[in-house]
Amino acid sequence: MDPLSELAARLRQARHVLVLTGAGVSAESGIATFRDAQTGLWARYRAEDLATPEGFRRDPALVWRWYQARRAQIAAAAPNPAHHALAALAAQTRLSLVTQNVDDLHQRAGSPAVICLHGAIMRSICSVTRLPISAQWLAAHPGEPPPSPHHAQGLARPGVVWFGENLPQEALDLAEAAARDCDLVLAVGTSALVYPAAGLPELAKRQGACFAEINLEATPLTRRADIVLRQPAGVALPALLAAAWPPEHAA
Ligand code: APR
Repeated sequence: MDPLSELAARLRQARHVLVLTGAGVSAESGIATFRDAQTGLWARYRAEDLATPEGFRRDPALVWRWYQARRAQIAAAAPNPAHHALAALAAQTRLSLVTQNVDDLHQRAGSPAVICLHGAIMRSICSVTRLPISAQWLAAHPGEPPPSPHHAQGLARPGVVWFGENLPQEALDLAEAAARDCDLVLAVGTSALVYPAAGLPELAKRQGACFAEINLEATPLTRRADIVLRQPAGVALPALLAAAWPPEHAA
């Protein structure tokens, strides 16, 4: 049986599916991934200058401008067939969708529940208290970055997890609980280099789940995968759903 048909059969029979997504799921929406040698964000910018608390302390204006540019790019982008397929999957089975992505494309595609391990770029928080800052406040208090309403020394910063920062504990607990309970885990569009996210498929496998990787290139997890689809997520995921739940044939 070819890998797609095998995975479709498992998907149809699954009791609880965990899907872990990475930047590769948003690539077909035109959003740069992180580690692509030519176009990846970390090929063009130094992550330590832009995605760390130290980088923000050193030059808050540079970091704020960079995230504002990424927010504009994401707002102008649209969910692609991979996002829509995962939104449709939630209607077919018990799905825990865990993402490393900070864009809002899963939500805009209609996924009802998204576990965001690395935060959300469209949210802003106080750099001291980490309390949320509303869009209304930001609009009324221009600045690069705007001041925070929560603390005299606070500045507005993106609500994302920077290198060296802790992941949101509730999201991590939900993701690990899903990994311990699922019987099928899919890793889609991730290089599987950043933990604890990259540890979720292994956690699932250890309790007996079937692990499938859908990614353009091999990753450190490939050798642990039971099924591998080396295709773009925007092609593989719609094909997978169509194979698992063939559209009703026109009467
Ligand atoms: N379909 C499937 N896979 C794709 C596609 C696509 N259309 N385009 C790219 N890929 C694959 C790449 O081959 C790569 O293995 O997606 C993966 C993207 O890897 P990264 O760019 O490393 O992104 P990700 O794995 O999400 O990074 C994890 O690192 O920098 C941190 O916090 C950041 O959440 C991010 C984390």
